[in-house]
Amino acid sequence: GLVNTKEMFAKAIKGGYAIPAYNFNNMEQLQAIIQAAAETKSPVILQVSKGARAYANQTLLRYMAEGAVEYAKELGLEKPQIVLHLDHGDSFETCKSCIDMGFSSVMIDGSSLPYDENVALTKKVVDYAHQFDVTVEGELGVLAGVEDDVVAEEHTYTKPEEVVDFVTKTGCDSLAISIGTSHGANKFTPEQCTRDEHGRLVPPALRFDVLEGVEKELPGFPIVLHGSSSVPEKEVETINKYGGALKDAIGIPEEQLRKAAASAVCKINIDSDSRLAMTAAVREVFATKPAEFDPRKYLGPARENMKKLYVHKIENVLGSANKL
Ligand code: G3H
Ligand code: 13P
Ligand code: NA
Ligand code: ZN
Repeated sequence: GLVNTKEMFAKAIKGGYAIPAYNFNNMEQLQAIIQAAAETKSPVILQVSKGARAYANQTLLRYMAEGAVEYAKELGLEKPQIVLHLDHGDSFETCKSCIDMGFSSVMIDGSSLPYDENVALTKKVVDYAHQFDVTVEGELGVLAGVEDDVVAEEHTYTKPEEVVDFVTKTGCDSLAISIGTSHGANKFTPEQCTRDEHGRLVPPALRFDVLEGVEKELPGFPIVLHGSSSVPEKEVETINKYGGALKDAIGIPEEQLRKAAASAVCKINIDSDSRLAMTAAVREVFATKPAEFDPRKYLGPARENMKKLYVHKIENVLGSANKL
């Protein structure tokens, strides 16, 4: 069945790689994720947001994930390592509901709360979750942009001097930190970027000094990066070529993620890139085959495009291939 994150994070830290946490809210995304994991023989985290629960129904998503384990076996994995994780849990009740329903891991995102309230809420979730062998991700620091319905103008980077106290008091199993990533497809404004010799935008580097500070305080403790889509130019170009209107879309360069994956970062969250891959493929079919109206004729190519993206990240960025 589904597994929690304990063993896979311990292995990832030792091995200097990161596990992808791919969001899903529909069958094609889920199939593409599992196909990618099977093809590359790798562990994977399926994550479900509050929005996904509202869109697709939590119960249905849970059984889809259970089914995904069987699907992975059919695709040749003897012992699939698949986590079903709640992304950005916003309350004890939401986390409890997912734990009771059979999720194997949850995030409680108290990052926008005052420190002591974040500690108390996270501890409450941990105390409940650990009774059922469910792992818990907490968060310290606030990402710029929209996170958990909270809009922040600027990053509040994680304070390395707080992490030991937080982890000790809460007992959480992993910690999401803020080092300059953010959610969505517009992670930096053009004004925040410089330009390379081809005139392409180059975003500012992540705050690896903050990450190193955290690692020094918490040696061997699993760290999580949210907002880690790279926003591939190819997908953005395809979307805009076929009628889309994405402006100034920019993500985290793969090189930066490769560096993060080699550190104590062992979970890297990716949602936007999957959305871009899906949208690009659908738009292309709509534009080039306007007579087509069988959903399989556009969702099929969308699924294939997402699978390629998932495989690419596993093999060339996160380094999690062949780690089962
Ligand atoms: O953390 C944000 C994820 O990309 C989920 O987004 O709430 O729109 O499903 P969502
Ligand atoms: P992206 O928007 O960069 O894909 O981040 C997703 C995420 O952090 C989900 O929790
Ligand atoms: Na790592
Ligand atoms: Zn996130």
